[in-house]
Amino acid sequence: MPSDLYASDFTLQKQSFGNDFVWGVSTSAYQIEGAFDVHNKGESIWDRFVAKKGNIYKGHHGRVTCDFYNRFREDILLMKSMNIPNFRFSISWTRLLPDGIGRVDQKGVDFYNRVIDFCLECNITPWITLYHWDLPQTLEDKGGWTNRAILRWFEEYVTLCANKFGDRVKNWMVLNEPMVFTGAGYFLGVHAPARKGLKNFLPAVHHTVLCQTLGGNILRSLVSNSHVGTTFSCSEITPFSNSKKDVKAAQKADALLNRLFLEPALGMGYPTETLPLLKRLERYQRPEDEKNSIFDFDFIGIQNYTREVVKHSYTVPYLRVKIIKATKRNVETTLMDWEVYPSSIYAMIAKFNAYKGVNKIIITENGAAFDDNPQDENVHDHQRLSYLKQYLGQVLKAKSDGLKIDGYFVWTFTDNFEWAEGFYPRFGLVHVDFQNQKRLIKDSGKWYADFLGSTLL
Ligand code: FCB
Repeated sequence: MPSDLYASDFTLQKQSFGNDFVWGVSTSAYQIEGAFDVHNKGESIWDRFVAKKGNIYKGHHGRVTCDFYNRFREDILLMKSMNIPNFRFSISWTRLLPDGIGRVDQKGVDFYNRVIDFCLECNITPWITLYHWDLPQTLEDKGGWTNRAILRWFEEYVTLCANKFGDRVKNWMVLNEPMVFTGAGYFLGVHAPARKGLKNFLPAVHHTVLCQTLGGNILRSLVSNSHVGTTFSCSEITPFSNSKKDVKAAQKADALLNRLFLEPALGMGYPTETLPLLKRLERYQRPEDEKNSIFDFDFIGIQNYTREVVKHSYTVPYLRVKIIKATKRNVETTLMDWEVYPSSIYAMIAKFNAYKGVNKIIITENGAAFDDNPQDENVHDHQRLSYLKQYLGQVLKAKSDGLKIDGYFVWTFTDNFEWAEGFYPRFGLVHVDFQNQKRLIKDSGKWYADFLGSTLL
């Protein structure tokens, strides 16, 4: 594969990315914090979802996970020792507003103040994601993302965050991967809140698009010198064959997986021409909505792990598109059964560059889960290391080819709770023993630390 050859052709040097390139690690509240019921914290849809048998691998849950709530100082110090200058984390809505709206729990506000202040003390810049999937259960009981009232609820939550933390936090992301939380949570039912079907998915999509813009506007108006972005999951889509049908299937998958949430923000509307099914969104649209979907984000966060190969299929309802699983294609995969395909990240950087109106692009997540075996205080995770180097090689290639690309955050800092897959896939640069919470820097983490600490010789 040419992409791999390219990566092994040169040694990665931090300096080659330029001095302004932003380096960091990404996390999210439910996956790392634990302390699910301290003080007045309210129930989120993930607290509810994990409690139901069969939803999560081996009945795992995020009630304790890496206990970041109690160990954030230790973890941030470790981050500092690894030369990591930027830390992306999300806020748990129900820690601040136990009922989603209304009363504020000061203890929750205090927690994030402590995290932010400690980051700054350690010279680590905080990057906050407002919504990384843990909707308050009380709001879900009223329809969650399918209820247009989410605009009011979200406004209250974002305003609170901006007012409480905006004096010190300048880098914000409104949403994490809207396609994944609406698709997995409101269409397939495999993530919280386990809703299914188009009748849930379509209104959830439309209200999410509106909240994406609403959140951006609130941040920009309340936070001085703000740097406002949002993040998108994206994958290169390859048609299984050159047949007309498969090529069309690939275009439809691309519209759904890569374009659906970005294009309305750019004033292009929904990609209905490619995916006529989206015309059904009209039912939820009001005349002013198209205008209210537009927002000029300071940056777009792209999150890429793999690519998808798709073919036409009559048996798949609505879309008529079938994903050919990587495990059936005899290719290298991670523990998520995702194909290792480094040039996908290049293709996505190029794709987003081609949009007029996308001014700045940051890779806000990239990483891999492999079977790690700690041995004598070491984790020789050579597969993760090779994955990271190959993907970064592609990022550098994009930069050298003159494409806009301004930063890279590894998913993730410590091993943590990987949603429906529980603790089975480990993505961390740092290994966590979930029995005793011991942290151990993996070889990939040591490499990242050296890479980030390096100065021009
Ligand atoms: C992304 C999510 C993140 C993590 C990684 C592996 O889709 O944003 O929380 O689970 O995948």
